[in-house]
Amino acid sequence: MAQRISGAYRLITIPSIYKGLMFSLGADNAITRYVDEALQPKAGMKILDVGCGPANVLAYLPAVDYTGIDLNEKHIDYARRRYGDRGRFMVGNAADDLKQEEKTFDLINVSALLHHLDDDQAVSLFTSLKRLLKADGRIVTFDNVWLPGQRAAVRLINKLDSGINIRTPEGYLGLLSGLGFDIQTRVFHDLLRIPYDHFIMIARNS
Ligand SMILES: C[S@@+](CC[C@H](N)C(=O)[O-])C[C@H]1O[C@@H](n2cnc3c(N)ncnc32)[C@H](O)[C@@H]1O
Repeated sequence: MAQRISGAYRLITIPSIYKGLMFSLGADNAITRYVDEALQPKAGMKILDVGCGPANVLAYLPAVDYTGIDLNEKHIDYARRRYGDRGRFMVGNAADDLKQEEKTFDLINVSALLHHLDDDQAVSLFTSLKRLLKADGRIVTFDNVWLPGQRAAVRLINKLDSGINIRTPEGYLGLLSGLGFDIQTRVFHDLLRIPYDHFIMIARNS
């Protein structure tokens, strides 16, 4: 991944610290609104959570068939301990390790991941995810963003992020161009307790 991982940034690879930081910043409100207004899961759906981390989103989902996959074994161990059999939790690379499940997912969540990937990594990931998606399925992404006229505090917080590939809306949309998706977008300015802007893409097979 293209991100800062030394010094204090290493702390966010520890599940309890990552989770504590997220919830102190207002993750409860952010996840609630993201799920209600963008993810819009329905009971019974087969959902893939790519780069799931400690699988915080699972607590906000109805009864679904949930798979969380992450490269970080510590996050997956934490999610297994917390959720038990409410989901399937896998250590692995979503771009490579689910090939036997092509065209089976109704919904793929890619939350807070793209700004940690460079363009080649992100395009390769989306190419693989498209194969996993049912014909009428959706991929939903959620990241921080650079915007024109953005508040100075947001720009400062973006600069301190461990992910070094925060993009403009056009930059994020470019990752999906040519892959055969119809894409809707949304920007949120008020999901966290700190000044922060979020950019959401909802991609459907075209
Ligand atoms: C910043 S965390 C986001 C965690 C969670 N989705 C959230 O919204 O809080 C990004 C995670 O993506 C994982 N990751 C990056 N590339 C991945 C890939 N190709 N397959 C699976 N996990 C990946 C990292 O290990 C990391 O835990």
